[in-house]
Amino acid sequence: MRDLTDGTITEAVVSTVRDAKDPRLGAILEALVRHVHDFVRETGLTEEEWARGVDFLTRTGQQCTPTRQEFILLSDVLGVTMLVDALGNRRAAGSTQNSVLGPFFRDDRPALPDGADISEGLPGTPLFFEGLVTDVHGKPVADAQVDVWHSDADGHYDVDVPGLADPAMRALLRTGGDGGFRFRSIRPAAYPIPDDGPVGELMRATGRSVMRPAHLHLRITAPGFQRVTTMLFPSDDAYLDRDPVFGVKQSLVADYSGHPAGTGPYGTATDEPYTLLRHTFVLEPGRSAHDPLRS
Ligand SMILES: [Fe+2]
Repeated sequence: MRDLTDGTITEAVVSTVRDAKDPRLGAILEALVRHVHDFVRETGLTEEEWARGVDFLTRTGQQCTPTRQEFILLSDVLGVTMLVDALGNRRAAGSTQNSVLGPFFRDDRPALPDGADISEGLPGTPLFFEGLVTDVHGKPVADAQVDVWHSDADGHYDVDVPGLADPAMRALLRTGGDGGFRFRSIRPAAYPIPDDGPVGELMRATGRSVMRPAHLHLRITAPGFQRVTTMLFPSDDAYLDRDPVFGVKQSLVADYSGHPAGTGPYGTATDEPYTLLRHTFVLEPGRSAHDPLRS
C-alpha cells in the first residue's frame, strides 16, 4: 500500500475498514469512505476549503452542551434527521406520520388528568385540544400514553421562559376507554432554531429562514403498536413551506380553528376568543423502534 494516487487511494482505504468485526460497521464505513472520497473528487475540494470544513465541524462540536446539540441541529437542517426517520418509520397512507422529536422533550413532565390545563397560567390564546387514538380499523385505543409539549405565545419552551422553574406546556396524558384525550393550554407560536452557532452561519450563508412553523409535539405509545412521534402545524402558518428542519407533512397540517369567547368544549368557560383543535391519531400495529437518543 504505497505510492497511492487519487485513482487508487479509495480502494486502499476501503480495504482497511470493510472487514470490521461487526459486518454492519464494515459496510457503513465502506460506504462512508466511498461517498466522502467521491464528494472530494466531485467538488475538486481545495486544501483551503478542506480546512474551513474542519474548522466548521470543530466549532460545531465545541458548541455542544448537555442542553445544546449543534450536531443534531446540523443533521436537522441538512435533512438527514428526517431522512433517517422516513426510512425507519414507513407508515401506510391513513396512519399518523412521524416527524422529528426535537430537542425539547423532557422526561420530567407531569402526569396530568384528562382535560387538564397544562399552561401553568402562562399568557396566550386559549387552546383546547381533543384527541382520539385509534388503530388502523378505527377501533379506539384505550390507555395509550400521550406526551404533549409545545412552546408559548412567544415561541419559547418552558426551559427558556425566565423565572419558570417547573415544567409547563407539557404533560403525560392517557387515553380513556373511548380512545380520547383532552387538554387545555395556550396556542404555540413559530420560533427560530438556535442560530448563534455554526448552523446559524450556514443558514445565513445560504439565505435560509431559521423559523420553524408553530406546532404541538405529541408522542403516543401503546402496547402492541408502533410508537408515533409527531407534530401538528396550523394550516395558516406562514412558515409551513420553509421549515428549516423539513418536518412538515401535509397530513400533519391541522385546522387550529378560532372561536369567539364563551363556553369552550367540555363545558369550560373562557372569556377570551379561543382555538379548538381536534385530531385523530391512527397507530399501526407493531413494536416501538428503539430510540437511539434515549435509552
Ligand atoms: Fe418544537
